[in-house]
Amino acid sequence: MPVHAPSNPRAVVVSIGGSVLLTGADDHAYVGRLARLLRDVGRSTPLVVTTGGGRTARDYIRLGRELGLTEVELDEIGIEVTRLHARLLAASVGAPTPAHPPTTIALAVHELHRSSPVILGGTEPGHTTDGVAALIAVRLRAARLVNATDVDGLYDADPRTHPAACRIPRIRWSEFRGKVHQATSGEAGQNFLFDRLGADSLARANIPLSIVDGRDLPNLARAIRGRKFVGTRVE
Ligand code: UTP
Repeated sequence: MPVHAPSNPRAVVVSIGGSVLLTGADDHAYVGRLARLLRDVGRSTPLVVTTGGGRTARDYIRLGRELGLTEVELDEIGIEVTRLHARLLAASVGAPTPAHPPTTIALAVHELHRSSPVILGGTEPGHTTDGVAALIAVRLRAARLVNATDVDGLYDADPRTHPAACRIPRIRWSEFRGKVHQATSGEAGQNFLFDRLGADSLARANIPLSIVDGRDLPNLARAIRGRKFVGTRVE
């Protein structure tokens, strides 16, 4: 008789960029609304959310680099900032979300058996919270990973310097992974639409990735619920 691994096909993982949480404009109103959305969705859908470090992490990493810290130490500083953001969001969501963010992927998966949403920051050096979100999605055999970021999807050129750039609504994993590998070398504090570990892990597990503007909450909610959304779908 075949042995089936425990699976939870309905789980959804959301990776929220630190640059989305803290923009300097209306952050308290945004985080409050985001917390309500996650609480609502988390009631009916097993939900895991990772929070990034954004500019705060990059500022500390730059300072540490100037002081001659190693890449591992810089990653560890980045992780602390991502956990700070997780604490802030977890406190806004309230019980049953654990106030102390789990520190490993295994603990986050374990916690999801008791409460949803589970919110955490980084885990260990060498990747970003996108990578953490992707590994959790693979562990949970999640239906999808939603990357809530500070742009509304992947473009065929940089829209800041190319006003005629077009958003790519759908892209295959092979092509997307090529772009991720071209844009990232793995240094602490490096910033691209998604990280290498995340793209490689999701592609191998055949889990779709939805890239959306995290500040557009109705659209983010549609992406999390698996409905039609504005952004980019990688599959
Ligand atoms: P982020 O996940 O915030 O990376 O982690 P990011 O690409 O800057 O994402 P945004 O801007 O928030 O969307 C910040 C840094 O913390 C370290 C890495 O150095 C990363 O660049 N980190 C984070 C780790 O080393 N391991 C982790 O699990 C998470």
